[in-house]
This record gives sequence, C-alpha cells and structure tokens, in this order.
Amino acid sequence: MNNYPYVITISSEKGGVGKTTLATNLAIYLKAMHEDLPVSILSFDNHFTVDSMFELGGQAPRGSVLDLLLEMPGSQLLHTGQYGVNYIPSSLELAEIKGSIKGPMVLARLLAISGISGILIIDTRPELDILTRNALFAADRVLIPVKDMPSLENCRHIFQEFDKRGMDRRNLSLIPCLIDERIKYDGPFKDQKSLLRAFAINRGFRCMDLFISKSPKVESLNTNPEGKIYPILTHARWTDVHQQFTQLSGELLQAYRATAEPRASLFRQWLAAEEGRKKEAYFGRLSGLRPHCTLCGKPVLANDSARASHYCEASDGSFGGFVEQKCFIDFILATIFNVTREVPEDDPGRAVLTDAAGKTVFVFRPMLDNGAGTVDFHRFDMEGKPLSRKEYPLDIGTAGSFGNVLVKTLGNEEGKLRDGFVIFHPVSHEAPESIMAEDNYRRLAKLKGQIAEQLMGTTGD
Ligand SMILES: Nc1ncnc2c1ncn2[C@@H]1O[C@H](COP(=O)(O)OP(=O)(O)O)[C@@H](O)[C@H]1O
Ligand SMILES: [Mg+2]
Repeated sequence: MNNYPYVITISSEKGGVGKTTLATNLAIYLKAMHEDLPVSILSFDNHFTVDSMFELGGQAPRGSVLDLLLEMPGSQLLHTGQYGVNYIPSSLELAEIKGSIKGPMVLARLLAISGISGILIIDTRPELDILTRNALFAADRVLIPVKDMPSLENCRHIFQEFDKRGMDRRNLSLIPCLIDERIKYDGPFKDQKSLLRAFAINRGFRCMDLFISKSPKVESLNTNPEGKIYPILTHARWTDVHQQFTQLSGELLQAYRATAEPRASLFRQWLAAEEGRKKEAYFGRLSGLRPHCTLCGKPVLANDSARASHYCEASDGSFGGFVEQKCFIDFILATIFNVTREVPEDDPGRAVLTDAAGKTVFVFRPMLDNGAGTVDFHRFDMEGKPLSRKEYPLDIGTAGSFGNVLVKTLGNEEGKLRDGFVIFHPVSHEAPESIMAEDNYRRLAKLKGQIAEQLMGTTGD
C-alpha cells in the first residue's frame, strides 16, 4: 500500500452542523466496511471529541496535531485507537502557532511526507482560518455539512477558497445534515433536504443526494452517565442515520478506490520536481563560483584547510567567489589601517576586527570619473543598514590594492573596470557554499538590491 493518505476534510464555517459527528462516525464506518484499510482521524478543533471517542488506555502519548504542524512525521504521531481507527491527539496550543503557518500548502506537504496510508479524515474548526485552509488544500474530498440556510450561505467562502487555489470543485460537496424529516412544506420543495439541495444547486454548489437525518438517538450518544461519546455503528444501529452512514461510507470508499493518485502523492511528486529545479539552480550557481580565494588564490570551499569568511559577488553577477578569512583581514588592515607588517593571528586587535568583519557586509565601488580613480568603500550591517563610508585610492597595479581586487572581480577582458560594485557578504565557515542555496541566495540578492539602491543616491563627491 502507498504511504500517502487519501484525505477527507469535513468543513463548515458554522458550528453545530454535525461536522464532528460526521468525521468521527465516518472513520468508524469506513474502517468497519473495509477492515484492511488503515483509517485515521485528526481534528484541528480543541474540544477533544476525537480523543474521547478513540482513546485507548495504556498508550504512552507520542505528540499531537501540534507536533504534526511542527514537522514531526505524521505516521509517528498516529495512536492506535478504538474501533480500529488511528488518531492523532488534539491540541490546545494550535491557536498559538497559527501565526507561524506560512500559507495554505503546509499541511499538504506534511501529509505528502507523513508516511500515513489509507484514508485520513480531518475535522476542522467552524471558521475559515489558516488551519482550515490547509485542511481544504490537502483534501482529496471535502464534505460540507449544511443544516439550514445560514450554513448554506456560509459555504460560499469555502467554494471561493477552492476557486482561488485552482482546486477542482468536483471534490467539494455539500451534505444536508440534521434533517428533520417530520418537517414538510407545501409547494415544489416538500421537505428540508430538497429545499436545501435546490438552493445549493441554484448557487452552483454540488450537493449530495445523500443526507443525514436528525435523530434523538444520535443526539443522545454523547449524553450519558459515563461521560462517553458512543458511535452510531454500535449504539444506534436501528436508526435511519445508521443506513445513511453506511451508504455514505460506501460512496466514499468507491471514490477512494477510483483515485489512482491522491493529492498527497501528487504533491510529493511536485515537491520532488521542485527540489530538482531548486537543486539545478543551486548547482548552476555553484558551478559558476571560483573555488579559490579571490585575493590569494588558496582553495577555500568546505573541507579545504583555509576558511572562507566572505562571499564576494560583482553587482552584475558576472563574478562570484570567496575570500579567505586571514587574507581578507590582512587586506583590510593594509588598505584601511595602513598596517602592512605581519599581525599575528592571536593579536587582540586582529581578533576584534575579524569578529566585526564576520557581521559586516563590505562594498567596494570604483569611482573612475575623478582622475586617478578612487574606490568608494562602504560597510553595511547584515540588514543593509549603512555603517560607514570612505574613499580610498584605487592603486591599480599595486599588489594588495583595491584596484587589483576590482580588476579581478569587475574587470573586462582588457582589464578595464565595469560600472558597478563588489559586495563581500559573510559566510558560514562550515559550509560557505550554502550561501548559494535557494533561501540564502534570495536573501543575498535582496540585500544587494537594497544596497544598489542606496549607492545610486551617492556619487563620487
Ligand atoms: N444526526 C444527528 N441527529 C441528532 N443530533 C445530531 C446529529 N448529528 C449531530 N448531532 C448533534 O448536534 C450537535 C452538533 O454536532 P457536532 O457534530 O458537534 O457539530 P459541529 O462539529 O459542526 O459543531 C451535537 O450535539 C450532536 O450530538
Ligand atoms: Mg465540531
């Protein structure tokens, strides 16, 4: 069996429409009808109905839905539950991490790599918050219980969410719930369910032919002296609702079997392709890099004995390379502080300078329209805030001068300098090339843009 779940999300912005009753009992019916099929359930609500229904004593807790969202593998969080249904325990702390969930695709990714198989049912809170949006995006099938006109009007937002994300509306259907069959109307729509269905169809919403009746027996299943919540399958077998759940589960099992690739599997393939694309760009950037120190020529990438301290790149991207730490500090000592004698590695002044350089972005910009040529030397902090600026002689042709570094990084074939600047950005000693990885490189590119904007405002005077 595949290690991807087929996801059924139960959602509605209205409370009290029967979401949790539908989610929990559906899990039990699906499992009862197909014993070999793993069926799991989780809830983003904080009322712990799932936990009280499925909890089996004697199991050490292994985390909750909170841990799932914090990237713990889903299959490790599944607890064996009653009626053969696995569950991931609920959490009271979801509200606190909501803000850190970046976008509606997080859960889809987590489920794609969760290792959970079979069918996974997700119960949601009665609001279209980021968790519900994630549960909708991850779903192969969404069921929206509606019991009256307000709940029907409300589901417009879920349909809009589907359209916005380019998802297939065919996987989304309303199911009339809590239908009181004693209520009859005069006119074309004889009862609640046909009225709801007619309104749904009128608004372009798909509505199931199936419906769930309101039953006093079902209502009583969570009111008993034991404080338990009993399943319809075991405690209300003789009701219409039992027949309806049997039929609904049969239909959903059919849809499950007819789905060759659940969304989690497609998402995983997409992730792999996306990774590949990122890796390609990453290797592309890496392969254009000079693996030797721009100043002295020593090899400086990971596993080399010399340590790179900064990545340097020409503003037009035509040069990318590293500088070795000792070499770069010697260069700064000589050009900025006029110290040309050997300063020992354990010299305190050198240590302070090395430390500060590790948190500083340096920019060299040649200024050629002023006779001899100078270099505009800037220091920025890691966020691109200017720290200092000064002009120094360019001294092209002199060993260890600004001019020589700029010829290597900004020089054309004839040794002439192009317009632009060179940026020196601190890198990690352990993995200097990680500056080329997607997020780091994007950050660097943004910083470079900010600095370029600031430099545009300055001239050689
Ligand atoms: N088919 C039904 N017949 C009668 N009462 C029901 C039925 N389904 C749910 N209920 C009751 O309706 C209330 C709301 O149901 P619940 O599943 O908690 O809705 P939601 O999760 O949408 O808030 C609960 O008290 C539940 O026992
Ligand atoms: Mg609920």
